[in-house]
Amino acid sequence: MAHAKPRMTVIDTDPGIDDAIGILLALASPEFNIVGITTVAGNIGIETTTRNACRLLAFAGREDIPVFQGAAAPLDRAGPEPLGLHGEDGIGAVALPDPMRPHETQHAVEWLASFLLDQPAGSVDMLALGPLTNLARLVLEKPEAARRIGRIVAMGGAIHEHGNVGPRSEFNLWADPEAAAVILGSGVPLVLVPLDVTRRVRATRELASRLLNSGQPKAQMVAHLVQAYFTSPTAQDSRPLHDPCVMLFALSPELFQCEDLELSVSVARDEKAGELAIMAEGKILVRVAMRVDAQAVLELLTRQLTAPWEGYSGRG
Ligand code: BDR
Ligand code: CA
Repeated sequence: MAHAKPRMTVIDTDPGIDDAIGILLALASPEFNIVGITTVAGNIGIETTTRNACRLLAFAGREDIPVFQGAAAPLDRAGPEPLGLHGEDGIGAVALPDPMRPHETQHAVEWLASFLLDQPAGSVDMLALGPLTNLARLVLEKPEAARRIGRIVAMGGAIHEHGNVGPRSEFNLWADPEAAAVILGSGVPLVLVPLDVTRRVRATRELASRLLNSGQPKAQMVAHLVQAYFTSPTAQDSRPLHDPCVMLFALSPELFQCEDLELSVSVARDEKAGELAIMAEGKILVRVAMRVDAQAVLELLTRQLTAPWEGYSGRG
């Protein structure tokens, strides 16, 4: 993808430590033309996820990118309690500047609809890092706009892996399974990046040191975010980089092995919510990233983040 024209890309996100790393990786990658960030409640409430998106852009000197606040709650159930893993501010108390540019007043779903209708069909991709509420609302409320999405690459689900919320359910699909069902049935081209892949791509203290020593501000900020994972007394030796895998897939799909599956998602009101079932192989084509060359994608992440950051004019 290195020489291709940058793809118009929207990041739909609930930052979130790993979301923040994914956003910084995207901002460090000239392969993406980030035209907007839309926020959703998930890891923490909507006001905080939106503010975190604005703070990340302020840090990166990219407040030219507009942020649109989206859904405060799932389609048809109560939202999750904040996840302690990401700290009280959602990003592990890592120091980021206050934003100069507030988020836009237009709702994320309204903006997505008008933006997609203004662009050539198929020219805008969505990188989805949180519960799929905004995108499902787009499909339900503005189907003619949703049909113009190039593709959605979404972090979510568990195929053969155990879950991280219920026995077989992953957080993003569990948090809003009705939204996931809408997206799976929408016909919008979809690549799912489940725990089967994201658990293989792990941040370590060594990765944090390497990024810190690079001297590149964006890499150093990612190092601080990774280090935030390791501050708890129960910290393990490594942590999965769930959301950055979406960016890594979009950058270098050849480093992943995919299967085309027909999937259904449970909308049960118990711990089964968000569980995926394989209905058929090679049929409704959700392309699912099932395996990854973990070492190669970690090298890619390091390379993207440590390349000289020509656009950098950020604060703090
Ligand atoms: C997903 O859940 C969130 O906590 C992370 O940000 C990621 O999007 C992993 O299950
Ligand atoms: Ca997320």
